Amino acid sequence: SKGAYDSYMLKEIDEQPAVLRRIIQTYTNINGDINMSSELIERLIQSDRLYIVAAGTSYHAGLIGKSLFEQLTDIPVEVVLASEFGYHLPKLSAHPFFLFLSQSGETADSRQVLVKIKKQNYPSLTITNVADSTLSREADYTLLLHAGPEIAVASTKAYTAQIAVESLLAKFLGTAKKIEAARQFDVRQELSLAATGMQSMIDEKDYISKLAKKYFYNQRTAFFIGRGNGYYLSLEAALKLKEVSYLHAEGFAAGELKHGTIALIEQDTPVVAFVTEAKTADHTRSNVQEVLSRGAKVLIISQENLVHPNDQLTFPVISELLNPLVAIIPTQLFAYFTAKARGNNVDQPRNLAKSVTVE
Ligand code: M6R
Repeated sequence: SKGAYDSYMLKEIDEQPAVLRRIIQTYTNINGDINMSSELIERLIQSDRLYIVAAGTSYHAGLIGKSLFEQLTDIPVEVVLASEFGYHLPKLSAHPFFLFLSQSGETADSRQVLVKIKKQNYPSLTITNVADSTLSREADYTLLLHAGPEIAVASTKAYTAQIAVESLLAKFLGTAKKIEAARQFDVRQELSLAATGMQSMIDEKDYISKLAKKYFYNQRTAFFIGRGNGYYLSLEAALKLKEVSYLHAEGFAAGELKHGTIALIEQDTPVVAFVTEAKTADHTRSNVQEVLSRGAKVLIISQENLVHPNDQLTFPVISELLNPLVAIIPTQLFAYFTAKARGNNVDQPRNLAKSVTVE
């Protein structure tokens, strides 16, 4: 039940630190060992490329997964949209491994890919929130999100849970492959820092609601920009705002804006910038200057070590591989508060279903 909450979406946003802690407890022990099937790891070690197949928000969690797997395991990753991949199969590597990301485990677009790759005898893993779901039953292996039921149509806690489980799998696999970056990555510590960071953002709810009012309530359009994981975050932040607030929103790689889309920036157009990656922070700030000089109303979400005095939202330092867990929180809240202010049905937005069981 929603308890004291006015919507499942807000309840599920609030649950995220607890979900993260449950994932840490379920998948790790005090010595830092990761509790996952060693047979699964053996199969993964034999693969030369990982294909992450998903839709919507799960696809965006897959993009963050690409950074995690490539940096911690040295295995190249392709993240593919299930609806495209099934019918336009790219040339596969010699030993592909398929990872299906799906909150519900019932997404038809993903399932048709699973059916096809099983015919080729390729190995598969489903990461899902629903234990006896179709994708879970039909894949070779399953890892559960342990996020508890996600009722709101707009996915929030499943997104962060997917990233957390991907990070644990990447650490486990990278360690088994003796990759130095994996050995140095203290996933347990980083995830608990992320849980604390998430909570610090959730505690800023009142302030975030004021920002939502100032930046989004009276707008027709909004842009999100960032680089690396900040770009992937932008895609997810824009999707949330579209789904529940019905605002036109787009996520862009910050450097790409000037190649066309900057034409859309007018006086007071809101632009949210993620400054979450050290090596590109200065470049992203240059892109912020470009939109500012065209009249944009800019809101910056930055990590503490990269902060500038006027940034609106800042969160404590954690690994750049996992800071998306924290940086996404205020944008989930922007979507929630804007939808509420507009009188929208936050949990059941128009035209949407919780799981899409048609192709
Ligand atoms: O259950 P799944 O994770 O497979 O669902 C995939 C998408 O349909 C889902 O993420 C959708 O984009 C959400 N409404 C996003 O909030």
